[in-house]
Amino acid sequence: MIGSGYVGLVSGACFADYGHSVTCVDTDAGKIAALKDGKIPIYEPGLEELVRRNAAEQRLAFTTALEDAVSNAEVVFIAVGTPSRRGDGHADLTYVYDAARQIADALDGYTVVVTKSTVPVGTGDAVERIMREARPDGKFAVVSNPEFLREGAAINDFKHPDRIVIGTDDLKAQDVMAAVYRPLYINKSPFVMTSRRTAELIKYASNAFLAVKITFINEMADLCERTGADVQDVALGMGLDRRIGEKFLHAGPGYGGSCFPKDTRALVKTAEDYDAPSRIVETVVAVNDHRKRAMGRKVMAACGGNVRGKVIALLGLTFKPNTDDMREAPSLAIVQALQDAGASVRAYDPKGMEQAGRFLSDVEFCSDAYDCVAGADAMVIVTEWEQFRALDMQRIMALMKEPRIADLRNIYDRREMKDLGFSYTGIGKGEGNGSA
Ligand code: UDX
Repeated sequence: MIGSGYVGLVSGACFADYGHSVTCVDTDAGKIAALKDGKIPIYEPGLEELVRRNAAEQRLAFTTALEDAVSNAEVVFIAVGTPSRRGDGHADLTYVYDAARQIADALDGYTVVVTKSTVPVGTGDAVERIMREARPDGKFAVVSNPEFLREGAAINDFKHPDRIVIGTDDLKAQDVMAAVYRPLYINKSPFVMTSRRTAELIKYASNAFLAVKITFINEMADLCERTGADVQDVALGMGLDRRIGEKFLHAGPGYGGSCFPKDTRALVKTAEDYDAPSRIVETVVAVNDHRKRAMGRKVMAACGGNVRGKVIALLGLTFKPNTDDMREAPSLAIVQALQDAGASVRAYDPKGMEQAGRFLSDVEFCSDAYDCVAGADAMVIVTEWEQFRALDMQRIMALMKEPRIADLRNIYDRREMKDLGFSYTGIGKGEGNGSA
């Protein structure tokens, strides 16, 4: 497994758990040393235990020595990062191509090389070309096998996938991949065997479609607010139509994370390059960026339009619960907008404060939700961590300077909050009076 980041580590540990012998490789010697000590560089539920157990049972090893790991392997996964290229939004493939070159140099016997990293359509062809140039004699096949792991639920997603996509025309490689995923094969998880380019596109199309779904319901939420309708009921009523489905219809402050923002931008670029522009995805990218900034204004409006000198308490900073990942989190734009408008920001996040400290300045980090709201003029729920769902609201009210809630994830009931005496603003919760 080349690359011991989020995807490489989760996939490597899960493959080891199936009984395969796995070596996770990374260029970061500090990370490898920590992993050997059982220290996991990211927060992902269940991962530490899985890594430790499989390492102890000697199915999972860590190294910086790519050559040894590759020469002994029948299957090599490329799971290195593909960040957005600075300036243009294209996926930066430097790490993928570097890995391909190094793998080619180390090949020994027939090897299946699999790109797990999210890569634009055609990247498998480029990887094959690079490897063929380096090793004209090499016996290998290049396969695309995109990942569909959600942060916070990655192990479950790996072990109970909706589908496994394998892209290759090489029959021998297909057999090897079937053997690698044998436990899932036996469990009757659906396999999509297809061409390499198709597999690469399935990944982008899936993520872009989910981003469209979220953005659609977010726009409906705005319309609900103006028309007096309720977006949660709209989502329910839509989602019961099995052609639509209930998932990914939760209106909120806009999507963030390591995948959707980067992958939608990359798909837009690929579509432009191939002269088949994706207007829908272009619009979704723009609407979502705009929405994150608009959330700051929404909080200000909830505070009567002016937050200068006010204290705003943010509950949740990560882009979603059960992760410490702050990449493209809506909280970043919200904090910025509030600080620009003269507010002081206090914040609490169960796992994300260390990461958040690297992205945010002048934010006072607190020890829990109650500490965070003490003396605040507004409590803003930004990330729907379980522990925020059943707060002691009497206690919150007693602690706050002003009893005001901006609930950007709709985890509380407006009527209940109003009955308790809070001023409450949710997302897409029109007042039902039909006024424009
Ligand atoms: C996503 C994909 O789900 C996964 O298949 C892919 O491989 C990697 O990218 P992830 O980024 O971990 O996973 O998170 P996900 O649960 O999909 O949520 C992404 C963002 O969308 C979060 O900011 C979340 O808050 C937001 N979201 C999600 C909504 O606002 N509403 C929804 O209904 C669902």
